[in-house]
Amino acid sequence: MTDGDQKLAEIEGRAKVAIEGAASFPDLEQAKAPFVGRKGELQALFRIIPTLPADERGTFGKRINALKEAVEGFVQARSAALRAAQLELELAENAIDVTLPGRPQATCPPHPLTATLEEIESVFRSMGFAVAEGPEVEWEALNFDALNFPPNHPARDMQDTFFVDSGGTGPQVLRTHTSPVQIRTMLQHDPPVRIICPGRVYRSETQDASHSAVFHQVEGLMVGEGVSFAQLKGVLQHVVTELFGTDELRFRPSYFPFTEPSAEVDMRWKMADGRDRWLEILGCGMVDPEVFKAVGYPAEVTGWAFGMGVERMAMLRHGVDDIRHFFSGDLRFLRQFAGVDAR
Ligand code: PHE
Repeated sequence: MTDGDQKLAEIEGRAKVAIEGAASFPDLEQAKAPFVGRKGELQALFRIIPTLPADERGTFGKRINALKEAVEGFVQARSAALRAAQLELELAENAIDVTLPGRPQATCPPHPLTATLEEIESVFRSMGFAVAEGPEVEWEALNFDALNFPPNHPARDMQDTFFVDSGGTGPQVLRTHTSPVQIRTMLQHDPPVRIICPGRVYRSETQDASHSAVFHQVEGLMVGEGVSFAQLKGVLQHVVTELFGTDELRFRPSYFPFTEPSAEVDMRWKMADGRDRWLEILGCGMVDPEVFKAVGYPAEVTGWAFGMGVERMAMLRHGVDDIRHFFSGDLRFLRQFAGVDAR
């Protein structure tokens, strides 16, 4: 072994020890700098080459290159080891203990109006009714005219109806009932029709325990040949039995512009104080021929329709005495409905 070889082996030994001893990336930078940096020992060796006899230069040059590669190999190996150690540490820090118990999620039962509406929908679906929906901002023509409200009907009065500034396309209102959805459905589909129309409706009311300017309705419509008032009675009786567990209903003659004859329906209900009372729960009737004319239905068809208030249903089922509770967002009120079945 020549002096030169020994010198190279000694440098390689020192570089190996220094580089392998580096405990971090900054350490590694520091450890390799004396060897591979611009002012490092390897660079100094390269500078010796021109001073050597010409026939030794090639071999010596190759040896320095081999040394340089060896040192770079140490650096790469060390840096891979450091990276792996760092990754292992991160994994350990972020480890999830899968045996820990889960965190409980705060849940609230469905809003009593949602629950009541869903139950009403499910009773009607089981009888083959489809659910139809429409816009809350509605053409006055569909909310009133097509439903046979005369132009001067008091319901159109500014005090009952919220009119919307529609910018010249025709008068619009916040729908005062979901009956316009029945019109929309009949305009789009030929008879027979069997639908319910749930949704939010608006009336310019002063708020009190039993009135709200915003409330919810479910209206129903059945049209076809030979559809009769007797069927209406049967359907309503079934629905009320499902929802309230009673089928004691009373039909009182009434008036709506869009039905003839019309009736209001009362249900016999045991109050909290134990007394029985007749409570009005919905309006209904046979669809007026004027309405069929407005939607272009043939003269042979007959049909019935009804409309009920969802808040009123929910208040009766749960013994709620003030409609404003439904819209208060008060969790003390809402939490009471966990798993409640009013019957
Ligand atoms: N649209 C009526 C209302 O909002 C309810 C109703 C619907 C009555 C269908 C009869 C027939 O008061």
